[in-house]
Amino acid sequence: MKVNRIGRSIGAEITGVDLENLGPQEFQGILDAFHGNSVIAIRDQDLEPGELVDFSRRFGPLEDQLNARYALVEHPEVLVLSNDMKDGKPVGLIDGGDFWHSDSSHREKPSLATILHARQNPRHGGDTEFADMYRAYETLPDEMKKRIAGLKGIHAVSKAKNKRVTISARRPDAKDHYEMQKSIPDQAWPLVRTHPVTGKKALYLSARFTIGIEGMSEEEADAILDPLFEHQIRPEFVYAHKWKDGDLVIWDNRCVMHRGTGGYTYPDVRTMHRTVVAGDRPF
Ligand code: SIN
Repeated sequence: MKVNRIGRSIGAEITGVDLENLGPQEFQGILDAFHGNSVIAIRDQDLEPGELVDFSRRFGPLEDQLNARYALVEHPEVLVLSNDMKDGKPVGLIDGGDFWHSDSSHREKPSLATILHARQNPRHGGDTEFADMYRAYETLPDEMKKRIAGLKGIHAVSKAKNKRVTISARRPDAKDHYEMQKSIPDQAWPLVRTHPVTGKKALYLSARFTIGIEGMSEEEADAILDPLFEHQIRPEFVYAHKWKDGDLVIWDNRCVMHRGTGGYTYPDVRTMHRTVVAGDRPF
């Protein structure tokens, strides 16, 4: 098994490994690469949904789906992200990950990791971008570090509660879905969290989910959030993954943000299978 850094501060590719036949030592190597690089792309895999679930569970228990409509019936842990159509209807979630975010930061126990397996790559576009939240924190001016220490961001799942995002018109059920989600309770998490394995501090907020700061007016909170949102996606923190056939990418939601960049149009099809590993309460 070989691990090569492919991004500046995050992102590594792993070759020479077969996830269908993975011994404990090799899994430990993958885990070490995951903690050391925050995003890993394991090349040349062809996992059936059940195999993807089995492999994903080695990282921990998997999350259930908030949008079961696009999960596989036989393997409900697997969400289909796709712009493909069948009988005039989308076969998967068409607008998944269209704004910068860390998965499930709106949940009581936000996600540890997400695993995305390319089933069909488009001819154009379809990159996923990742931003390094360790570097984003480390490079903040000391004044800002002091200002945000101890503050908690409010995370909301419904896009209908967030003035910084829009609801995609391409997904027919999206508006109703986000209206319904308005009643799901928000969560408050430290703007700076400590990674439970590496012990490093990371910025923990995103334009997609963070809608305010606990105990602050909207105006006061915006004065902190807006510059942080701008800072955390500076180009030098970003690794853009260009998908190859057979790629399986795993990222650490505790220290990276990500987004799908789009740039492909049906009938140029992009289909991904996704599982999400549950995490713990950030501290
Ligand atoms: C996601 O946000 O989980 C998906 C990103 C992508 O499809 O590139």
